[in-house]
Amino acid sequence: MRNAFALIAAGLVLSALSFSPAVRAATAGLPGAWQDWQPGNDISNTASLQRGAGNFMGYCAGCHSLKYVRYSRMGTDLKIPEDQLEEMLSPGSKKGDYMLTKLTAADGEAWFGKAPPDLSLIARSKGSDYVYRFLKTYYLDEKTTNGTNNLALPGTAMPHVLSSLQGAPILKTVKKDGLDTFDSFEIVEPGQLTAEQYDEFVRDTVNFLEYAGEPVKAYRQSLGIWVMLFLSLFTALAWLLKREYWRDVK
Ligand code: HEC
Repeated sequence: MRNAFALIAAGLVLSALSFSPAVRAATAGLPGAWQDWQPGNDISNTASLQRGAGNFMGYCAGCHSLKYVRYSRMGTDLKIPEDQLEEMLSPGSKKGDYMLTKLTAADGEAWFGKAPPDLSLIARSKGSDYVYRFLKTYYLDEKTTNGTNNLALPGTAMPHVLSSLQGAPILKTVKKDGLDTFDSFEIVEPGQLTAEQYDEFVRDTVNFLEYAGEPVKAYRQSLGIWVMLFLSLFTALAWLLKREYWRDVK
C-alpha cells in the first residue's frame, strides 16, 4: 500500500511540475540580442491579466480594438469586480459590448498614415514574443515623422505611446564584422517607471493580449491539471487492482 501512495504522490508532483509557471518561466528571460527577448508571461496569472487589461484600456484602447472580446466576458474570465469593470469601459460603452475603439479607420489613416489594426488575434498571428519585442524596442530617431523608430517593426506608423512610462531610449550599436549590430538601449530621459517596472508593464500587457487571442486558454490549462491529476490517480488505482487480481493467480 505504501508503494501505491508513493506512486500517486509522484504522479501528482509530475503533473503539477509540468504545468507550473516556474518551469515555463525558466526558459524565458532577457539574454543576448533583442531578437531573443521573451516576455516570460503566464496566462494563468490572473493578477497579471487584470493589470494587463488595465494597461490596455489606459494606453491602447484609444486606437486599437479587440473586436472579438466583450467587456463582460473579460470581466468574468479575469475575475474583475463589477464596479472596476464599470470604470474600465470606454466612454459610451456597455458591459455587453465588444471592446471597440472610438478611433475610426479613416482618422487613424489620416493621423498616423495607417489605421491601427485590431489586436484580438495579434498574439496568435505574430506571437507574444513579437509583441513584447515590439513594445520594448522603440528608440528616438530624428529621421521619422513621429520622432521614434522600432527594431521589431522598422519605420512603424505607431508612435512610442508608452514613452511617458519608459522614458526616451536611444539605440546603441557596436560594429561587428563591419556591420552595425544591436548593443543596448540607453534611457536618456527617464519616464515614470524603472526599467524593471516597464518590463513588468509590457509583460502584463502582452499576457493580456495572449488571453484576448484565446480566452479559453487559461481555462483549458487549468482543466489540463485536473486531467493529469485524474490520470495519475487512475493509473495508481489500476495498478492496485492489477496487483489484487494477480495475487489470486499466483
Ligand atoms: C496613438 C494610436 C495608438 C496607440 C495608443 C497604440 N497604437 Fe498600436 N498601432 C498604432 C498604429 C497606427 C499601428 C500600425 C503600425 C504600422 O503598421 O506601422 C499600430 C500597430 C500595432 C501593432 C501591430 C504591429 C505589427 O507588427 O503589425 C501592435 C502589436 C500594437 N500596435 C500594439 C499596441 C499596444 C499593446 C498598445 C498599447 C500599449 C498600442 N498599440 C497603442 C497606433 C496606436
